[in-house]
Amino acid sequence: MTNTTTAPPAPSAPAGRTSGWIRTPHARPDATARLVCFPHAGGAANAFTALSAGLPEDIELLAVQYPGRQDRRAEPCAEDVSELAAGVAAALASRSDRPLFLLGHSMGALVAFETARLLEEHGRVARLFVSAARPPAQDWEEPDLTLVGDEELVAGLRQLGGIPEPLLRDPEIVAEVLRLLRADHRALLRHRCPEGTAVAAPVTVLLAAADPKNSLEQMADWARHTTGGQDLVTLSGGHFSLVERPGESGPILTHHIRADLARAEQVPAPADASADASADASADASADASARKEPLADLVREILLAGLEGRAPKLSTDLTTLEAAAREVMSPDAYAYVAGTAGSGATGRAGREAFDRVRLVPRMLRGTRRTDTSVTLFGQRLPVPVLLAPLAAQQVAHPEGETATARAAAAAGVPMVLSTFASRTLEEVAAEAGDGPRWFQLYLPSDRAVGESLVRRAEASGYSAIVVTVDATHLGFRPAELDRGYSPFLRGTGIANFTADPAFRASLPAAADATATVLRWAQISTDPTLTWADLARLRRLTRLPLLVKGILHPDDARLALEHGADGVVVSTHGGRQLDGGVPALEALPGVRAAVGPDVPVLLDSGIRTGSDVVKALALGADAVLYGRPYVYGLALDGRRGVEHVLRCLLTDLGLALALTGCASLADVGPGLLFPREPVGAYGTHPLARTTSDAPGSSGTPENGERR
Ligand code: LAC
Repeated sequence: MTNTTTAPPAPSAPAGRTSGWIRTPHARPDATARLVCFPHAGGAANAFTALSAGLPEDIELLAVQYPGRQDRRAEPCAEDVSELAAGVAAALASRSDRPLFLLGHSMGALVAFETARLLEEHGRVARLFVSAARPPAQDWEEPDLTLVGDEELVAGLRQLGGIPEPLLRDPEIVAEVLRLLRADHRALLRHRCPEGTAVAAPVTVLLAAADPKNSLEQMADWARHTTGGQDLVTLSGGHFSLVERPGESGPILTHHIRADLARAEQVPAPADASADASADASADASADASARKEPLADLVREILLAGLEGRAPKLSTDLTTLEAAAREVMSPDAYAYVAGTAGSGATGRAGREAFDRVRLVPRMLRGTRRTDTSVTLFGQRLPVPVLLAPLAAQQVAHPEGETATARAAAAAGVPMVLSTFASRTLEEVAAEAGDGPRWFQLYLPSDRAVGESLVRRAEASGYSAIVVTVDATHLGFRPAELDRGYSPFLRGTGIANFTADPAFRASLPAAADATATVLRWAQISTDPTLTWADLARLRRLTRLPLLVKGILHPDDARLALEHGADGVVVSTHGGRQLDGGVPALEALPGVRAAVGPDVPVLLDSGIRTGSDVVKALALGADAVLYGRPYVYGLALDGRRGVEHVLRCLLTDLGLALALTGCASLADVGPGLLFPREPVGAYGTHPLARTTSDAPGSSGTPENGERR
């Protein structure tokens, strides 16, 4: 399709002049990166002139000119997408002295993808941005435009937006637009991308909120076409937002490009890496391995081999002991904040006891050498059913706070759910996470403008889901903190997302000092008046997947879905809110039964070991959020401490799955539980009827009948 800034057309362009594939609207000789932009069907290089104008000096935009239009009008249009890709890839050969980022809009996304594949045969593409386009292997459901009449086509263009009405009334311009559109569509329809074709470059999907052509579900499927990780950013506006709103899209692209460049500088070259390793020879076994970024490598073997050389892990592999170890190194205030629970601590204790009460019955001789631990949530494929829970104010545990956690999570490919009350800004954390998957936990502030701003910033920084916490509109009665008269927030830790927020800053009185800022934060940061209607309002604000965290009652789970949630997190907030509450694990089966088998249900509160994760999955969770132990790891050894915790947990989980005889997470279900109908506290397990219970069954059930 086309828009104002693109095709129309220049029928008078000098015929026969072929000035090649690449235009540079604004030459930037000192740029540190190049962004190569591929136009949509019917479009031309000048679609990207405004975007180019708004980019900073360190990014040079190169716009692709397809043959058959404007100054290449004398040439025939390409017959198929691969012909376009081959032309561009050849033209870029002389421009690979700086990192290349590719950006394709609509049909241009396919051309960019194919170009990236060609370029990767010889080198590296730093990132592929795809805007308003379905993934290569999907049916684009495009009609054959040679069979569609002019009037109908023009009506379609009008609906999609992008071409001002006066141009659509100019017969000469319309004729040229339709000629190009039909030719480009022919190239598109001829394109066949085999299943499983992928680029190594990470992919950022740009989805316009009001694009009638593409849905979140379709766009999320780009994840199948990259081995470098995918993130998704929502733009406001329609199909042509990318080019029509350069003020919005430009900063998003700049942010991603700069974050990639910064990370590339930090990653040592291979030669340096070995130098690093020898310098580190005295470090502990576990941290050595994590520096090699192989979080799922065989940790047990590695530790035992290091043991032969007299080295033992620096931190215990028993994750239940890290709290006591961390207490030794944390300030009493910090420990009170992180470890503290509500009231008598009953909910916290019950949370752990619930896990201890559930027993697993392993199945034997199933030949389970290795378990496929991957799970797909909201179109995102995760290597393990584990995410890092949104723990607030992590600088109380370690000066680097959430940025160290983000790096450890990214190294393991485990999404970090960043707290609204983080001590580092969501942008800083995104830059550290790089390609690492990340979700954003949201406390809806009573100042609506701040809430909307937080959501927009999370979208712009590549957070791919919003987890709205609903159980802490008042913070619980926490004696450990109260007895010390301590709150990290009132001392200024954990409010970074607010002090960096334009809407929050705009709401501060002129010349507000630190105290006034903290007081304003305390006034607006949560909202006790929230109702389900506010969830529906949030739903309308963003197209990111929305999860509601803090659900324990089945009816609340249903209400969450009715008001627009895409998933729920069963949680007692780590026992920090209501004293005497039902443990999350015991509430889980009821919630799962209420929402049915297909809605993502996550669980947190009380998980410490790999077997705990298996128990949560067997009782109906799709994945879990892992909390306090990683912050204890952070306190004990910074990023390496978090990596150690993750490696231990994931190794333990892999073993637990293998030992229960599960070849994949689909095998994890109530069939693993003893007794099969879990004990009375949560009543009859609604999912406990398995195929083996059915009359005439062979009695050799798969464990997991839910999925
Ligand atoms: C807490 C909130 C801030 O539990 O999540 O402290």
